[in-house]
Amino acid sequence: MKILTIVGARPQFVKAAVVSRVIREHNANNFEGSSILEVIIHTGQHYDENMSGIFFDELDIPKPDFNLGVGSGSHGAQTGEMLTGIEKILLSEKPDSVLVYGDTNSTLAGALAASKLHIPIAHVEAGLRSFNREMPEEINRVLTDHISSWLFCPTATAVINLSNEGIKGAKKVFNSGDVMFDAALFYSQKALQKSNPVFKKNLPSEYILATIHRPASTDDIVKLTSLLETLEESGRRFFPVFWPIHPRTRNIIENDATLSKRFLSGNNKFIFLSEPLGYLDMVLAEKNSRLILTDSGGVQKEAYFHEKPCITMRTETEWVELVEAGWNFVAGLEKESILNLLEKVLNDSWIQKPHPSLYGNGKAGHEIIKILLGNDKREQNI
Ligand code: UD1
Ligand code: UDP
Repeated sequence: MKILTIVGARPQFVKAAVVSRVIREHNANNFEGSSILEVIIHTGQHYDENMSGIFFDELDIPKPDFNLGVGSGSHGAQTGEMLTGIEKILLSEKPDSVLVYGDTNSTLAGALAASKLHIPIAHVEAGLRSFNREMPEEINRVLTDHISSWLFCPTATAVINLSNEGIKGAKKVFNSGDVMFDAALFYSQKALQKSNPVFKKNLPSEYILATIHRPASTDDIVKLTSLLETLEESGRRFFPVFWPIHPRTRNIIENDATLSKRFLSGNNKFIFLSEPLGYLDMVLAEKNSRLILTDSGGVQKEAYFHEKPCITMRTETEWVELVEAGWNFVAGLEKESILNLLEKVLNDSWIQKPHPSLYGNGKAGHEIIKILLGNDKREQNI
């Protein structure tokens, strides 16, 4: 069986690392002649060494067979260029199925190219919804889900979301668990063995870990300024803020001389800046933090995996079970609301809540490959 995997952005490398490792394990233990040939396309959406190359090295992802080198651009230009490149490769490689992850432009381009060529699509991390169509990711997810043949949902809520849109069926929709949970389990030990984490240099022992990269946080300079001032104030009132900065956010701040001087010069006493971290350092940074402040999808869940409370700087989250479990607080983007929640979690009433298993049993990657191989013996999946 030939599977063609399409990745392009940082979170997809983490997710694909899990499934690709299961494929290699399967091939190593395969006594029945059902080996899987995985061909990997990297669209080149993320390309800096610390946004791409380091993930392939640290997570043992095979070198991509193709790199389209698409790079940055407007949504249309970026997605269009990917579509053209992916289509050519699909025509020559003729895979049995195409594997796409998450909700980026690389996901949508891969799914669209495959669907027009009638190649079945497996969507990993299907069924998530923010119900906010202004997010580019929401458009990417909805469209990808509606043209996929196998929908691998990380949560029961995702299965329900799909059902509400008429996507259902035991042979189509699977609650496989979350491959990011598999990754957190598998790579935690490796991260702890790292003798010299890059991020530890100059960092106080107690800190809040922050990440910011969504267009809703960065693209309006007034909102971005308010968020940066919130980080500064969090550092002043609670713990220093450790902030590995996404290149999108850095580039936007660099275009504003005042913000740049105040937040990027390295002189801010309350914010410790770093370049984007590799995954293993990021896991350590999460594990050692007091609390995580983020607008990232993946980081919200990793906060939970590593048992840290998380304040989400967004107006909604796809990961509603984290909120229900009492570990995640959706703050919106207003300074006062974020600071009030920090006060509540760090100084007042919050105590560690029960930590149920919300994202499967750490075997989502195995589940996905078992189903794709047609070995699934269960009669009922949903
Ligand atoms: C993308 C995804 C988003 C995901 C995020 C993960 C889309 C629409 N967005 O957002 O869903 O959460 O990745 O991190 O697919 N840049 C660099 N170097 C790089 C990559 C990006 O400098 O290696 C800068 C460029 O200025 C670029 C900007 O970051 O214009 C945004 O990159 P892009 O991939 O378009 O979107 P992200 O914000 O990274
Ligand atoms: N991540 C990382 N280094 C960083 C920031 C994030 O390795 O400096 C990892 C993080 O641990 C998670 C993934 O990148 O596994 C999340 O990606 P991101 O926040 O960019 O995108 P999202 O999940 O919001 O789509």
